[in-house]
Amino acid sequence: MKMSQNTVLITGGTSGIGYALAAQLLKRRNTVIITGRTEERLTAVRQSLSGVHTYVCDQSDPAAIVRLYAEVTRAFPDLNVLINNAGIGLKLNLNDTTRPLEDLEKEIRTNLIGPIQLINQFLPQLKRQKAAMIVNVTSGLAFVPLPLKPIYCATKAAMHSYTQSLRVQLKHSSIKVVELAPPATNTDFNKGQEEMNSASLMDVNKFARVSVRGLERGREEILPGMSPIIRLIGRLRPHATFRRAEAEQMAVHGEDSAKRLQ
Ligand SMILES: NC(=O)c1ccc[n+]([C@@H]2O[C@H](COP(=O)([O-])OP(=O)(O)OC[C@H]3O[C@@H](n4cnc5c(N)ncnc54)[C@H](OP(=O)(O)O)[C@@H]3O)[C@@H](O)[C@H]2O)c1
Repeated sequence: MKMSQNTVLITGGTSGIGYALAAQLLKRRNTVIITGRTEERLTAVRQSLSGVHTYVCDQSDPAAIVRLYAEVTRAFPDLNVLINNAGIGLKLNLNDTTRPLEDLEKEIRTNLIGPIQLINQFLPQLKRQKAAMIVNVTSGLAFVPLPLKPIYCATKAAMHSYTQSLRVQLKHSSIKVVELAPPATNTDFNKGQEEMNSASLMDVNKFARVSVRGLERGREEILPGMSPIIRLIGRLRPHATFRRAEAEQMAVHGEDSAKRLQ
């Protein structure tokens, strides 16, 4: 699909990958709408990305998604691309069973239930367009888990699987379904993680350029940087995990928790 003159909704466009994709798509003369949880951060983006449209929407809240749909489709009846990008990734020690259930649910609501609800909500709108696209941002960690972020990896693996099914079910529609699986990328997502060597992180603007080129070329799966290698490891060694994480787990939560991960 031509990546110009579309009307694109990107969830989570206030920083990182969403912001870089918004900048790329604006440059290519698309109408770009982004979301975020706070007006403050969205205002800052409007000041740096001229022409971008913004909506507050915490996608862990189902009612906020219903409101977003009503407002966006009223203002942008030509909306034809949904990029499900917003996400969070928490380090969790599963041995700590005292954590409130809401803490565990938040990540699942943001990374999995939110995107699925967004697709469910916007599907009739997208089906009305001559050419439309749904892009789900998953992760290299959808293919090989990092035990330090157990729920995050589970949500991304689930989004990977869901995207495959969605693609088949929409095969005879005007909607193309794309999975975009970033490798470790230089964004706020990895800030303050001592274990991440910044040299091993992909530059976010390069990531956005490669991704938009992939969309334009009609790829169904876009795996920039190290992501194809991670997927290959997952296929060749289905029980593989990023074992380096065990040492990190031990450092953060104590030796016992790391042993129990083995
Ligand atoms: N960076 C990486 O290494 C990497 C690797 C693989 C996959 N990914 C995936 O790429 C996507 C973008 O991550 P990033 O690296 O760009 O991280 P980031 O810089 O932290 O950006 C995350 C974005 O999501 C938004 N967001 C978070 N929770 C939200 C919620 N409940 N409702 C609406 N918006 C929410 C944030 O907006 P506000 O804070 O303004 O609400 C922000 O715009 C995520 O799905 C992530 O899992 C990242």
